[in-house]
Amino acid sequence: MHIDKYERTWLIVVVIVLACFFAALTAGFLVYGVRLPSSDEGGFVIPAQLSNEPGYSDPGLREIGDKKYELYIIAKKWRFDVGTDHEGTTQNPILRVPVGSSVKIHISSEDTTHGFIIEDQNVNIELVPGHLAQLTAHFKHVGEFGVVCHEFCGISHHNMWMTIEVYDPAAVNTGAYSLLEEGEV
Ligand code: CUA
Repeated sequence: MHIDKYERTWLIVVVIVLACFFAALTAGFLVYGVRLPSSDEGGFVIPAQLSNEPGYSDPGLREIGDKKYELYIIAKKWRFDVGTDHEGTTQNPILRVPVGSSVKIHISSEDTTHGFIIEDQNVNIELVPGHLAQLTAHFKHVGEFGVVCHEFCGISHHNMWMTIEVYDPAAVNTGAYSLLEEGEV
């Protein structure tokens, strides 16, 4: 069978590129331990019953140690449910953590597929309904970080966002942190 010189060249290039991708995937898995964000408990629950699960029955941000937090979130059409104990509206909550905090995020969807990505952080999860995803975020820099749903989930997808505010407790004490009202934190 005759194969044109250029066609053969490009076939070889394609095979080499694919082999490189496959090698990178394999190395990521075996050498660097890259895994999908998943649950210790291993798994799935019935999405509509997510709010009965431990932690998810009372979603929100809780301090569990020195600069250690846990955060339970129920993604639903069309908001991130983090309870009512926070700044901002129920639709677009604002969560606050001091700089240097580790936040263990537990998140799942109770209806359709949503997404969860935190701006400028290494956090990017696809929320499959009922899949109990978890990962730990380390907030090393002061700032306001947008959190959005980045999977199209219906007519109000664009309204599905919230904010994580990482503040410097020292700046709060000296009054240098202007976003906080007096008496807060
Ligand atoms: Cu939820 Cu898009």
